[in-house]
Amino acid sequence: MTMGDLKRISLGSDHGGFELKELISSHLKEIGHEVLDRGCFDPGPVDYPDVAALVCSDLLSFTADLGILVCGTGIGMCNAASRLDGIVAALCTNEYMARMARMHNDANVLCLGGRVTGTDLALSIIDEFIEAIPLQDDRYLRRRDKVRGMG
Ligand code: RB5
Repeated sequence: MTMGDLKRISLGSDHGGFELKELISSHLKEIGHEVLDRGCFDPGPVDYPDVAALVCSDLLSFTADLGILVCGTGIGMCNAASRLDGIVAALCTNEYMARMARMHNDANVLCLGGRVTGTDLALSIIDEFIEAIPLQDDRYLRRRDKVRGMG
């Protein structure tokens, strides 16, 4: 990885993803990325839409390049983030999904389930997501535009 590949990553979780979020934060820092940790900051219960909104707002204001959201299953975070214009959230359970989410779907937020995906796999999914580059091929761009046009 060269310096040019280093990203600003906005990271958030609810209580169901707290433990994994802490490990993700250390991993990202260790490999040189900048982490904007938007909580939660302890394992006490919090509402996942509140955290999803903070992370998505970093992306929409260009404060971050990519977002990572973790809840128990990843489903709530993915639903919440997907409501916002300009956000393409993808719930991924393996590296292939993560790579395709970037390359074909131009996803900018990765969602993970802290109670579903083990730590090593989660970190490997994250590495794929960060390293993959969205394809600029006509057919992928056309499909992305159709999705955006769905309102
Ligand atoms: C919290 O218990 C749990 O519902 C939440 O983390 C998430 O899995 C929701 O989709």
